Amino acid sequence: MDAVTGKDAMGQGRAANLASGLFVTFEGGEGSGKSTQIKRLAQDLVQDGLNVIVTREPGGTPAGELVREVLLGGAAESLGADMEAMLFAAARRDHVVSVIRPALQAGGIVLCDRFLDSTRVYQGLANALPQQDLKALETLAIDGLMPDITILLDIDPHLGLKRAAARRGQGDGPDRFEKETLQTHIDRRNAYLALAVAEPDRFVLMPANRPEDVIAEEIALVVRTHMAAQILRQEADGG
Ligand code: TMP
Repeated sequence: MDAVTGKDAMGQGRAANLASGLFVTFEGGEGSGKSTQIKRLAQDLVQDGLNVIVTREPGGTPAGELVREVLLGGAAESLGADMEAMLFAAARRDHVVSVIRPALQAGGIVLCDRFLDSTRVYQGLANALPQQDLKALETLAIDGLMPDITILLDIDPHLGLKRAAARRGQGDGPDRFEKETLQTHIDRRNAYLALAVAEPDRFVLMPANRPEDVIAEEIALVVRTHMAAQILRQEADGG
């Protein structure tokens, strides 16, 4: 296999044969570069003729995009962190049932900007609900679907917040979740790192303070290697 791209191991025809699709989520704090990296990975995989779906949370469905506006615009803030957690969960369930699972069942590669780990970190830290209630909400929201790979783009919040502000441009203020204190952003980073340590088989930790090209190459390698392994397993199982 080409150590940089992993392409030789895949071969275009074989890559198209992913029986159960591939679900890749991207997580990280504000300004960690998730959207840029998702775009780059999608372009790379599409060039190989693969069926790629790019989506995001909250959002990804018409109802989910409405919920996104309500949540990020701050309209739900006065309802309380518990209600916000329920809205994230409702949008997620709709997203899983009507977009993500059907795409995976068709053998597609789903690249999703944020998923359940965002709730674990953001609403978990906000003490939106007691842990067992958040867990119950998560079970309802994901309907049994876990990501195959979660890329955690890890960034020092001092840098991430600067990047997020530069991206917003002049005139636009931070959204409902960006506007928290620096300490909250630091706590979120640490909470993400703890999740990655707890689930090393699912998480891939990517230091995000490096050149965009280097990160993109590493992510492509991780995803292609995972796909190659999945196909080999499928073949071994006679699939
Ligand atoms: P983003 O699309 O720019 O990352 O903005 C989404 C914001 O919503 C971000 O601040 C994280 C927050 N969020 C949660 O608090 N919980 C969640 O479950 C999700 C998906 C996002």
